[in-house]
Amino acid sequence: MKPWPYPRIVAHRGGGSLAPENTLAAIRLGQSLGFRAHEFDVKLARDGTAILMHDATLDRTAGCRGRAADMTLTELSQLDAGAWHSAEFKGERIPTFEAAARLLRSKDTMAHVEIKPTPGFDAVTGARVAELTAKYWEGAEVPPVFSSFSFEALAAARAAAPEIPRGWLIDSFNDADWERLAELDCVSLHTNWKTISAARIREIRDRGYQVMLYTVNDVAKARELLAAGASGVFTDNLREFAAAFPVDI
Ligand code: G3P
Ligand code: MG
Repeated sequence: MKPWPYPRIVAHRGGGSLAPENTLAAIRLGQSLGFRAHEFDVKLARDGTAILMHDATLDRTAGCRGRAADMTLTELSQLDAGAWHSAEFKGERIPTFEAAARLLRSKDTMAHVEIKPTPGFDAVTGARVAELTAKYWEGAEVPPVFSSFSFEALAAARAAAPEIPRGWLIDSFNDADWERLAELDCVSLHTNWKTISAARIREIRDRGYQVMLYTVNDVAKARELLAAGASGVFTDNLREFAAAFPVDI
C-alpha cells in the first residue's frame, strides 16, 4: 500500500457546520480547534480562477442567482458567503483556492482537495486545479489528496500532476469501481459511510486502497467505522470530534 500520512479525522468543507462552508473563516476555525486536515470543494470562475464552492449555483451559500462559472472573480468577490450561515460570519468572502492554500500551508495543515467541476467543465477544472496544486504545494512534505465524483476531472488532474495522489469519490461502491480505481491509479476510495459495509471496507483495504468516508458526525459511528478499517472520516461535527479524537485530528 502507498504511504498515507493523513490524519484520520478531517474537517469537512473547511470547518464543518461551525462556520460557513468553503471559506477561510471555516479553515481558520478548524485550525484553531487543532485540525490538521481539511476537505474543501474547488471549481472555476468564468475567468478560470479556482475558487472554493460546493454548489454549481450561488443561491444557497452566496445569496445570488446563477452559477459561479458565469461570473468573474471580481464579481464573485463582492458576494457575501457568510450571511447564510449566521450574523457572526456576515461579509465573509468566497475564497480563491490560492488564498486557501496559503492559509493551509501557513499552519502546516493538510488538504483533501475535492475537484467539483461545474457540469460541462470537468476536464478543464481537473487540469487547472492540478496545475495550481502542484504550484501552491511545491516543496511541501505532504501533498494534498485529490478526489472527485468526476472521472474526467480526475483523469485530467492525473495527466497534469501525476505525482499528486488521487481518490475516487462515489456515493456508493459497486464492482465497476475497481476499474475506475485502477484506471485513475488511485490511492484511495472515498464514499458515503451510509452505503458501505464493514466487509466492503476490508475488501477495499485488502486490495491496496485507503478508504475515506463522508460525512460522519457521530463519534460512536466514527469509532466503529475506523475499527472496521476505514482510513479516515470527514466530519462536520468539529468540536465533538476534536474532543473525542485529540490525537487523530
Ligand atoms: O469529499 C467528501 C465529501 O465532501 C463529498 O460530498 O457533497 O460534501 O462534497 P460533498
Ligand atoms: Mg466535498
